[in-house]
Amino acid sequence: MGRNEHGHNDRRFSTRAVHAGREDLRGLGVHALPLDLSTTYPVEDLDGAGEQLDAWARGEQPAGSPIYARLHNPTVGRFETAIADLEGTPCAVAFASGMGALTAVLLSLAPERRHVVAVRPLYGGSDHLLCSDLLGIDVTWAAPADVAHAIEARTGLVILETPQNPTSTLVDIAAVAAAAGNVPVLVDNTFATPVLQRPVAHGAAMVLHSATKAIGGHGDAMGGIVACSEEVAARLRGVRIATGGVLHPMAAWQLHRGLQTLPLRVRAMQRTASELALRLLEHPAVERVHHASLSSTDPDGLVGRQMSGPGSILALELVGGFTAARTLLGSLQLATHAVSLGSADTLVQHPASLTHRVVDAASRAASGVNDSLVRISVGLEHVDDLWEDLRAGLDAAVEATHPADAVAWEEDREAAPAPEATPRVEHAS
Ligand SMILES: Cc1ncc(COP(=O)(O)O)c(C=O)c1O
Repeated sequence: MGRNEHGHNDRRFSTRAVHAGREDLRGLGVHALPLDLSTTYPVEDLDGAGEQLDAWARGEQPAGSPIYARLHNPTVGRFETAIADLEGTPCAVAFASGMGALTAVLLSLAPERRHVVAVRPLYGGSDHLLCSDLLGIDVTWAAPADVAHAIEARTGLVILETPQNPTSTLVDIAAVAAAAGNVPVLVDNTFATPVLQRPVAHGAAMVLHSATKAIGGHGDAMGGIVACSEEVAARLRGVRIATGGVLHPMAAWQLHRGLQTLPLRVRAMQRTASELALRLLEHPAVERVHHASLSSTDPDGLVGRQMSGPGSILALELVGGFTAARTLLGSLQLATHAVSLGSADTLVQHPASLTHRVVDAASRAASGVNDSLVRISVGLEHVDDLWEDLRAGLDAAVEATHPADAVAWEEDREAAPAPEATPRVEHAS
């Protein structure tokens, strides 16, 4: 690998996505990632093994036997090396899921720093975990502009997502990091992926991914990962060893393989999402479209400054509210009505009923997650096929909620030329 004088990999992002975490393969004489399914490892001598065990328990990464798979696994280790490379951090620590990763971060906070300032909306499961008494965390919810006021002497962490799940609204990471002062900021980068956004470059201390999403990319492997400093990584490894939320090596292998095509997939999906955003805006069933390709979603110009492109997740607010959402979701023939996101195929869901059901209704509504909101994770299908599927569902939604408008819309459409796929400007990454 090309390393500069600081030891950092200075090859371009798409090259690193293909090669990161594979540095030892040539020496091993293999081409594809090796998959090590061992749960235990031979120890060489008893005294040395005891010292190694102590080192693992301190969150260090000693050479030699991993001793036991809850302490370390080489297949998982390669995936961690790759994510650290792509996010531009010294380390990364992987877990069984995104929620496992967030749990470990919260458990790693010192007992006197278990106050978290969080920006809504977050993924419903993250919101729920922060609000629950499970981990002894006290949370203050704050708008990005109010983060500085919400910080207390006992605050151990600031948490945000950008783009936010499910509204696809953006948060200025550098502004929040400045407001947080010495308090570390964790950015959930699941929507953007490191292809479009590297939060550490904007002042974040930790970057969390649900690797279950675009990193894996095929809806068949769960995982979570935190990219961070060596000091934070040691604490997270210690929590992982103690609590056992390890990433299975088979999943690590799949997620690592997903990285090779991540840049291509993300750019293709965001191109389609940007085109769909324009077409959706024109449909009478649609009140509002949220996607960072639209200036209404990105009033501060964060695309180009913080994110190199708008990403592949969009959100719609429907004129006909919940009934329209239910009709649209029930009509889909190509896209799948399902939670999750970042898959090769398009997934559509109603956050208030599913992913954000666990958030209380008032907090949900206050952060824009209302009953008329539908989230679309755009996949790799042809834009025209997706549009036909969505348009049929939206036509049905108009029919179900405003039958008189449906007739007028049908007449207008017959009179107007069919929209064509227009090439969109792509931001370099
Ligand atoms: C933004 C975001 N963060 C975290 C998670 C949790 O990840 P997992 O489902 O892998 O536990 C999700 C899951 O949907 C998510 O969308």
